[in-house]
Amino acid sequence: MKIAVARETREGETRVALVPELVGRLTALGATVVVEPGAGRHALVPDEEYVAAGALVEKAAAERADVLLSVAPPSPEDVGRLKNGAATISFLPVDTERPLVAMLRDRGVTSFAMELVPRTSRAQAMDALSSQSVVVGYRGAVVAAGLLRSFMPMTMTAAGTVPAAEVLVLGAGVAGLQAIATARRLGAVVRGYDVRPSSADEIRSVGGEPLDLGLEPLDGPGGYAREMTRERATRQRELLAPHVARADALITTAAVPGRRAPVLVSRAMVERMRPGSVVVDLAADAGGNVQGVRAGSVVRMGGAQVWGGRNVAAQVPGPASRLYAANVVSLLTLVTYPADEEGPAVFAPDFDDEIVDGCCVTYGGAIHHAPTRVAIEGPDLAPHPTPDPVRR
Ligand SMILES: NC(=O)c1ccc[n+]([C@@H]2O[C@H](COP(=O)([O-])OP(=O)(O)OC[C@H]3O[C@@H](n4cnc5c(N)ncnc54)[C@H](O)[C@@H]3O)[C@@H](O)[C@H]2O)c1
Repeated sequence: MKIAVARETREGETRVALVPELVGRLTALGATVVVEPGAGRHALVPDEEYVAAGALVEKAAAERADVLLSVAPPSPEDVGRLKNGAATISFLPVDTERPLVAMLRDRGVTSFAMELVPRTSRAQAMDALSSQSVVVGYRGAVVAAGLLRSFMPMTMTAAGTVPAAEVLVLGAGVAGLQAIATARRLGAVVRGYDVRPSSADEIRSVGGEPLDLGLEPLDGPGGYAREMTRERATRQRELLAPHVARADALITTAAVPGRRAPVLVSRAMVERMRPGSVVVDLAADAGGNVQGVRAGSVVRMGGAQVWGGRNVAAQVPGPASRLYAANVVSLLTLVTYPADEEGPAVFAPDFDDEIVDGCCVTYGGAIHHAPTRVAIEGPDLAPHPTPDPVRR
């Protein structure tokens, strides 16, 4: 079984899907690991480290590969190199990558999307959305500290005392909690707000102070947030406005699964912040929590600078790659029969497993992920065949 590691080709993608420390986990299964030259360059991992860990470094690694690993969706060139029946594991946003999904289907490639891994306790080791959110939250707090023209911690000197910065974090999921924890470690006074009822305890557990706006919680299925009604959104903005105005730094991370990010903060609210204030919108890639934000740019609103995050996890490629690679290796281990006395290692996804079933996008020349199949091919006319478990 040959596992290939792609060199990322999308603009701004600095991460790599496998790090040298984890090569041994795959060779122990009986697989050969082949890395494209320069795959780890932007994450500061030289080719020699892969070789020292037991991998081969070869051009066009995807050729004759059984599984191709990447962070961003695989390039059409790499998909063109894959043999029928090969597999890809990557982030694969099915709503925006329909032509690529159709290509994977037409070439008989089995594809897995890391963002579709079900968020169950059993799948935690494969939860790349969470692992990358940890990186995003950390980076958001550090960017806020860097842009702020003041100290984060209260600082006492013989010449006087500089008060601590006040940081407000909106959305306290994985990224938000990490932003709160990081801003606290930097010494700021941190408040957090989320619509889920369990969030107050979670905010306290990382050293933040939960903000209670007196609004009803908005918890939806599986512990996730529900979308706000227009009235609720307006009321929430009104109640948040004074808290935003007094913050030195505002960090926003709110998301609703499968939807555009909710607009939590209007331009007028930002314009009421003091000169020199900072806004870091970590949801900018999903449309933004702040009205007028631009992903990948800093926009001035009144006296505040508004930083729109773009592929923020790729701004900290070392840890982001390490965590992502661990997620990918866990998924690969689940879909591989290790080599034993009966034969070599084989790629063998079991579709009776809810994790495998949940994150598989294409398989055997068909689109396995039902919502994507309907979006690309229209409503199912005949029942879609479920693949049999693959056995050696
Ligand atoms: N394996 C698992 O079981 C697992 C893994 C990760 C997260 N989770 C849980 O999933 C939930 C969401 O976490 P996430 O990091 O994926 O979130 P996310 O990235 O989808 O969203 C970020 C946060 O924004 C909040 N939000 C949405 N609309 C909002 C609004 N209008 N105002 C303020 N906040 C708003 C959400 O409640 C969420 O906490 C949490 O309960 C988390 O503990 C479970």
